[in-house]
Amino acid sequence: MTALQLTTGAPGARILGFGSYRPRRRVTNAELAERMDTNDEWIQSRVGIAERRWADDDETLVEMSVAAGGKALAASGLDAAEMDLVLLATTSPPTAIPGLAPRVAHQLGALRPGAFDLNAGCAGWCYALSAAADAIRAGTARNALVIGGEKLTQYTDLDDRATAVIFADGAGAAVLTASDTPQVGPAVWGSDGDLHTAIAIPDGEQHMSMAGQAVYRWATTRLTDTLVEAMRRAGVGPDDIDVFAPHQANLRIIEMMAKRLGLPERAVIARDIVRSGNTSSASVPLALSALLESGEAKSGDVALLLGYGAGLTFAGQVVVLP
Ligand SMILES: CC(C)(COP(=O)(O)OP(=O)(O)OC[C@H]1O[C@@H](n2cnc3c(N)ncnc32)[C@H](O)[C@@H]1OP(=O)(O)O)[C@@H](O)C(=O)NCCC(=O)NCCS
Repeated sequence: MTALQLTTGAPGARILGFGSYRPRRRVTNAELAERMDTNDEWIQSRVGIAERRWADDDETLVEMSVAAGGKALAASGLDAAEMDLVLLATTSPPTAIPGLAPRVAHQLGALRPGAFDLNAGCAGWCYALSAAADAIRAGTARNALVIGGEKLTQYTDLDDRATAVIFADGAGAAVLTASDTPQVGPAVWGSDGDLHTAIAIPDGEQHMSMAGQAVYRWATTRLTDTLVEAMRRAGVGPDDIDVFAPHQANLRIIEMMAKRLGLPERAVIARDIVRSGNTSSASVPLALSALLESGEAKSGDVALLLGYGAGLTFAGQVVVLP
């Protein structure tokens, strides 16, 4: 049997910087209440959203991803030309072919990097973060740009109160580099494909639908173990967690998970959903960017992340913030 030569990379990866792009247009609950049979009280109490951003026509998925990626590069101190891997986690590309990551990488000035789109529903960015960190460890990349970008309004019936009040647009990104001090922990990822219809664009339709109660039950009963295992694999416990940044799908789910984990008093809980809505793969990097920008989270903080959504998919990991 022929043994092939393999590459070996750094002991681990670390995040150097975050960047984000929020569409210009704020859409308040009051505006939605004028448009459909809903109200601020229902949305705030059931989902936790006060306002969200909807992208205009000129704010394409590529433009938003380039903007977030450019800011992450600026924060990292590295140049686009140094990226040898560019991943775009998205579930809302405007067309199936081609993938957008090569174009995003080119617009940023990267030089022929490995580039591909990754669709793992709202868990996409956490999946991509893990794929990039593993590539760095395997030696197939040294620096990676990991973007989560969504234009979900393109696939949302903006007059359907079941989804229009929830889904929104935006992009977030991080730059990773090889490191002797590993600061991206192993991902605990998985899927429950028997629930593939729970969040989907049904055959022959243009818009997304969600079995909200079924997903709520799944999220609140099946994902806490993932978080506990992610901490165990990274060699930390609840007391070490400074920041908890799960997917921003529902404030009640976020609060319930935080309580169950027994996080310390000082832990900062990401509640970006209040002003950003549910931005699928963009939600975790958007939330982390906001916490770092506001100073609520700081460099060196240990953050517990969780993505989950259409597929159904989930991925959790522990990272150290830049
Ligand atoms: C979607 C979600 C917010 C809906 O909340 P819910 O409490 O389950 O609400 P329900 O769908 O049971 O609806 C309750 C009632 O509110 C009504 N309602 C639904 N949407 C409404 C809206 N936007 N405004 C006002 N009323 C609304 C329903 O018609 C229903 O009325 P009824 O009791 O008279 O029949 C919630 O199920 C959820 O967050 N699920 C998980 C989503 C998630 O985690 N996704 C993961 C990745 S994307």
